[in-house]
Amino acid sequence: MSGKHKYTKRDNFSSKFGVIAAAVGSAVGLGNIWRFPYVAGENGGGAFLLIYLGFIIVLGIPLMLTELMIGRKAQLSIFGAFRRLAPGTPWSLVGLMGVVAAFMILSFYSVVAGWTLEYAYIALRNGFADKSPLEIREMYNGIVEAKWKPVILMFFFLITTAFIVRSGVKNGIERYTKMLMPLLLVIIILLNIRALSLDGATAGLVFLFNPDFTVINKDVVLEALGQAFFSLSLGMGVMATYGSYIKKGESLGQTAISVSIADSLIAILAGMAIFPAVFAFGIDPGDGPGLVFVTLPGIFNQMAGGYFFALIFFLLLVIAALTSAISLLEVTVAYFVEELRLTRKRATTVATVAMIALGFLCAFYDGVFDFFDSISANVLLPLGGLLLVVFVGWFLGREVVRQELEADGKVAKYFYVFVFVIKFIAPFAITIVFLHNLGLL
Ligand code: TRP
Repeated sequence: MSGKHKYTKRDNFSSKFGVIAAAVGSAVGLGNIWRFPYVAGENGGGAFLLIYLGFIIVLGIPLMLTELMIGRKAQLSIFGAFRRLAPGTPWSLVGLMGVVAAFMILSFYSVVAGWTLEYAYIALRNGFADKSPLEIREMYNGIVEAKWKPVILMFFFLITTAFIVRSGVKNGIERYTKMLMPLLLVIIILLNIRALSLDGATAGLVFLFNPDFTVINKDVVLEALGQAFFSLSLGMGVMATYGSYIKKGESLGQTAISVSIADSLIAILAGMAIFPAVFAFGIDPGDGPGLVFVTLPGIFNQMAGGYFFALIFFLLLVIAALTSAISLLEVTVAYFVEELRLTRKRATTVATVAMIALGFLCAFYDGVFDFFDSISANVLLPLGGLLLVVFVGWFLGREVVRQELEADGKVAKYFYVFVFVIKFIAPFAITIVFLHNLGLL
């Protein structure tokens, strides 16, 4: 079959480390370093973390495995994958939804990524140093509400992303994530060493690790599930697209587990860098989205070595955002290459131009930003996740599933557990979240 297909010379990840770097690069993003700490902060810390980790294990890993499997089996990105695996059915619409979601997420994601560029630049020229907390908040509001500046920053960010994606899977995505992810790890460890050596750091650790279950309610649980999906880049075909570049001999189960562990670890390390500092300086951890952009610069100002740590912190955010944006852009580029028969370079240009246009709308109109944000996180991702597990659980056929799970030549002992989860548990849990997000539950 593959002989007849035009894309037999498919670009692949060349090594196991390359697969992990790219997939962890996708998963570890603003979701881990910006969103996780403030959402955990707003939802009680330790108890939220525990529920979040529970969801990663029970739903996140199986769903990631599901996506990887679809992509690798089909050897096509998400839209083509459904067409090949379920020809003549409406399933390919799910793939199309993934592409649309990728467009929406990347357009507002690049706007936030643009702020991180601005922050890295301010940190570099020591621009926070003489500012009071109030002035820092005004700076943040100024950056977010300005009109043209965020557009320009978003533009730069997308061009950088496009530069990497257009160089290909092996020579672009793999090459850069293999350099950037180790750097990210080093930075976050340095930040941890600094934060944990502050006087009063323990209170932050207690907040993060000591669960207080009295704060848990339905909303917190659902928030934790949404965060788990977003953080693992699930529900719209990023992992399916990356899966299509993984060689047959690699174990998908191992990949899904390693990526999920790495992603959770980075979220926890981000929390361990931020909360000790927040508590040491007597600040409210439930500060919301401004936690990283308003609270932290104020803290860095008061900290010995603050200039250096502010700089590497915002550099960390830029790297995290970049490697995630790469994966989002790749979904649409792969789609254009396969469906419109464009060369990779041309497909990247088309996708990037379209993305810049949408990003412009997000940067310029808050309403568009909020709409894209909420429709993708609350509707498209859970719906996509649901349809993906239903597809593999009920339509793909057990033999295909087993084949993909055991492609590395080892018996997948977890086969029945996996099938049970994706047939029953995952669809049920995701449906509940979905209905809640729509306000129906
Ligand atoms: N996971 C990334 C983060 O934590 C964001 C992201 C990249 C994403 N690709 C995605 C989210 C696909 C949902 C779907 O920041």
